[in-house]
Amino acid sequence: MVITRYRSEKFRNLKTLELFPVPGVNVIFGENGQGKTNIIESIWMFTGCHSFRTHKHTELIEKSQREAKVSLSFSAHGMDNDALLTIGQKREFMLNGAVKESPRRFLGEFQSVVFSPDSLSIVQEAPSERRRFLDIAVSMIRPAYSTQLLKYTKILTNRNALLKQIALGTAQEDYLDVWDEELARCGARLTLYRLHYIDELAHIAAEIYKEISGGKEFLKVDYQQSSRCFSIDEYEMTESIFIGLQKNREADIRRQLTSIGPHKDDLLLSVDTLAARQYASQGQQRSIALALKLAEGFIIKETTGEYPVILLDDVMSELDTKRQGFLLEYLKSWQVFLTCCDPSQVSRIKNCKLFHIENGFLTGE
Ligand SMILES: Nc1ncnc2c1ncn2[C@@H]1O[C@H](COP(=O)(O)OP(=O)(O)O)[C@@H](O)[C@H]1O
Ligand SMILES: [Mg+2]
Repeated sequence: MVITRYRSEKFRNLKTLELFPVPGVNVIFGENGQGKTNIIESIWMFTGCHSFRTHKHTELIEKSQREAKVSLSFSAHGMDNDALLTIGQKREFMLNGAVKESPRRFLGEFQSVVFSPDSLSIVQEAPSERRRFLDIAVSMIRPAYSTQLLKYTKILTNRNALLKQIALGTAQEDYLDVWDEELARCGARLTLYRLHYIDELAHIAAEIYKEISGGKEFLKVDYQQSSRCFSIDEYEMTESIFIGLQKNREADIRRQLTSIGPHKDDLLLSVDTLAARQYASQGQQRSIALALKLAEGFIIKETTGEYPVILLDDVMSELDTKRQGFLLEYLKSWQVFLTCCDPSQVSRIKNCKLFHIENGFLTGE
């Protein structure tokens, strides 16, 4: 997947801005607050159909303007495509002149992976950050997963609302049975998608981590299920979640929250058997985040047959020379967009194209 032309208009602070990237490394540089991340964010919109920074899409429009537009020309599977995103009251995606019925219908058309200082939260923060990573990564290659996730979230919201009513004495406890069944059925499907993905992710991320650490350390990636199910049979998993829900019913009513299901599961990351969140050094945590993100990109490539575009936002200065070297060597065949303040940080990259951005304007290539 290669972007051949990028254009944005009134996206945050970006003025009408057009660039023609090379298939290799594209370096976008400029001082802080000039619009570098805004370019990365606008490209990723075509992958996630929403921003990685906000859920309020009106924030993406330049202040006091009514509409923002971003367009990408990109090649994929030997075809040239033109995609247009318009953000106004709503978001609308067009691909090759045809409007998508909903933004989610664009999922899977353009693949990219973003790695930024925020990616460290996958290792350092609460389980919800790791579930978010998984949910986005799996949706990318299995759009059916995102439909299932949406369904699950609705069931969960309904069950939690009912728990509240029961706690207040305005609904009967046995109304929960139907929601428990639905939640278990849908939850088991979600879990199986995730397990299948983690199977591959664990293997690839471990290989990459081994290379980053010079073969000295071993990364382990496991999935921890709140239902403690050890079977990968859909029926048995459904049963296991259902039984878990029944067992925890009293506590759930007291807390007015559902304590079992994929919304409570976690991705366990460890280096040489020690849990990464608590024990890994900052450098090791950075390497883990990088290994997971590169593995995400690799799986997209294996599944779709196309290299996703790699978006590296402000990360070079945080990686030591060895890790930088590894990253650039690893990404030799990929199209990369890399942002930094000072282009001398990336002077070792050969044949890259430089773009200077200042106050939302491109001031030179
Ligand atoms: N909706 C908006 N309208 C106008 N300017 C915005 C909007 N959203 C963010 N900005 C501006 O964009 C700039 C931040 O751009 P960003 O891409 O994050 O900078 P950096 O180059 O450091 O990555 C800030 O100056 C901010 O005020
Ligand atoms: Mg930035």
